[in-house]
Amino acid sequence: MEKTFVIVKPDAVQRGLVGEIVARIERRGLRLAGMKFMQVSRALAEEHYAIHQGKPFYDGLITYITSSPVVAMVWEGNKAVEAVRQLMGATNPTAAAPGTVRADFALEIGRNLTHASDSVENGTTEVALWFKPDELVSWQRDGERWIFEK
Ligand code: RTP
Ligand code: MG
Repeated sequence: MEKTFVIVKPDAVQRGLVGEIVARIERRGLRLAGMKFMQVSRALAEEHYAIHQGKPFYDGLITYITSSPVVAMVWEGNKAVEAVRQLMGATNPTAAAPGTVRADFALEIGRNLTHASDSVENGTTEVALWFKPDELVSWQRDGERWIFEK
């Protein structure tokens, strides 16, 4: 099944929003496949955000993501990538739709609480970057036929 990679960023952990964010993804019907509480190294942050290297916000972004622990997660399900991006909302919280995590709990782009993979391909790459194969759990959630038609 499709997998997406999600980070509960340092601001969300510090503000006690881990449960809130996990609950929203869980209730949507996606299945948790991996989860770890960790301090992000500078090397991992640089690899994860390599695409943004050279942009004006890059240094601040690396400082932000390495400033305090995060919760790194893998969620799976049909359309997992699209569904989690929708739950989190637009990158800039004041442009995010009401009811999304960023609109409900954040104000600034540099403190936007979460990361979520933006394509199925990047989801696969990011899961492999952040998780070893034996850190992922393959399982069935009871009642999935009431969430996924196929
Ligand atoms: P993410 O990767 O964190 O899920 O966010 P995203 O796809 O919505 O946004 P992206 O363009 O990939 O940017 C990654 C993160 O960099 C910070 N950012 N700051 N100050 C700025 O203009 C700016 N632009 C991006 C945000 O923390 C964003 O989530
Ligand atoms: Mg992104």
